[in-house]
Amino acid sequence: MREFHPKTIIEPFRIRSVEPIHFTSLAQREQALKAAGYNPFLLRADDVLIDLLTDSGTGAMSSRQWAGMIASDESYAGASSFYRFEAAVREITGFKHVIPTHQGRAAENILFTNIAKPGDVIPNNTHFDTTRAHVEHAGAEARDLVIEEGRHPRLIHPFKGNMDVQALEETIRTVGRERIPAIMITVTNNSGGGQPVSMANIRAVSEVARRYGIPFLIDACRFAENSWFIKIREEGYTDKTPMEIAQEMFSYADGCTMSAKKDGMANIGGFLALNDDALAAQCRNLEILTEGFPTYGGMAGYDLEAIAAGLYEALDSHYLRYRIRSIAYLGDRLTAAGVPIVQPTGGHAVYLDAREMLPHIPPTQYPAWSLNNALYLLGGVRAVEIGTVMFGLQPDGSEQPARMDLVRLAFPRRTYTQSHVDYLAEVILEAYAQRETLPPYHIVSQSPVLRHFTVQLEPVIVHHKSGR
Ligand code: F0G
Repeated sequence: MREFHPKTIIEPFRIRSVEPIHFTSLAQREQALKAAGYNPFLLRADDVLIDLLTDSGTGAMSSRQWAGMIASDESYAGASSFYRFEAAVREITGFKHVIPTHQGRAAENILFTNIAKPGDVIPNNTHFDTTRAHVEHAGAEARDLVIEEGRHPRLIHPFKGNMDVQALEETIRTVGRERIPAIMITVTNNSGGGQPVSMANIRAVSEVARRYGIPFLIDACRFAENSWFIKIREEGYTDKTPMEIAQEMFSYADGCTMSAKKDGMANIGGFLALNDDALAAQCRNLEILTEGFPTYGGMAGYDLEAIAAGLYEALDSHYLRYRIRSIAYLGDRLTAAGVPIVQPTGGHAVYLDAREMLPHIPPTQYPAWSLNNALYLLGGVRAVEIGTVMFGLQPDGSEQPARMDLVRLAFPRRTYTQSHVDYLAEVILEAYAQRETLPPYHIVSQSPVLRHFTVQLEPVIVHHKSGR
């Protein structure tokens, strides 16, 4: 028989445990949003129909993961679950020391407390918020050196997460290698639109780091998605497996931080992995203080089991093809209808460009916040503003427009199906059709740091003068 290759990419799993989602009326959503101070973070999840707030810890686990969890070893020290976890991390990353933590930011805390001090500079393509916060907490400067292409939402480039290698060398020359305790690269570049980093770029950054004798670390949260982009976009990798690509990526680095809530396919967990014996010993000391004994590090034995299986499942080609394609499908539909999004579509999320879409709302009246609230009111969809509410408040209390005003629709792994995505497209297109009527917002109360989590806002009533 002639082999044929169907074009439809299907979910590479069937579902045998389901969780109801909650339908609400427009009147109920209006009331819920008002009661939440117009802040989607403060909504009850039960009032949300499709929750795209984050892809972190929100995915579905496999029957194999659940089986491992039931058979876990909960010993305080030396549990077999730890050794399965350690073996999985070692096989994929090749790093010698595996230090478990309760999530990604705990690995960052342990790392930067040990390596960074006031006056130091940490270069990264783009620091994620918690990474930046830990660098700054240690008194050091977090410097973002993504390539110029990565700073323009509409520009198409296959690896917009790449680091500007020339700017990196320049930084080392002007700052001095002794004030740079590590160079980091985030795969994929979450804060820059979920954009991938090429193998060539990782290799080039690694060469610079080696030449100056500076440790090179990967923020590996979405390492599997990044491996897939290398497979489909970079010359020479088409025939390699995601596992081989991931192993090569890690081979250029001296260690990594990881949030297992992303490509660990788990609801909680993370790790720090290192080759340096002395640094690993120092990090384990702090781990005991803040996370727990080094064979559980803030996780239960069953969390270690879920991650040990999940790391491999994240590297499955059928899974990755479906994952990346189903998100690109939404991006393509929106682009075809003229909705401005960050191009090309990222690995874990679609980012709507609200500043472009809502020119009648100035950045200091929060266009992305308004758009996110509109998606909730229209369709019960919750996403997250990455814009002037999140980044606009300056340390001196003044307000500056953020670099971009985006709405990130992040997809939990293996959780929503094709028809959910079709529904989402419909809701977003309706918001686009009604865009001229979306209101500006003003802030009623806020906290001095990380205000977006708790801020309270109100829509601004716009008085139309025309015709009166
Ligand atoms: N690094 C990156 C690139 C991340 O995206 C995150 C988390 C972390 C580190 C921290 O990991 O949450 O386990 O402590 N990102 C989530 C998000 C919260 O919604 O993008 P964590």
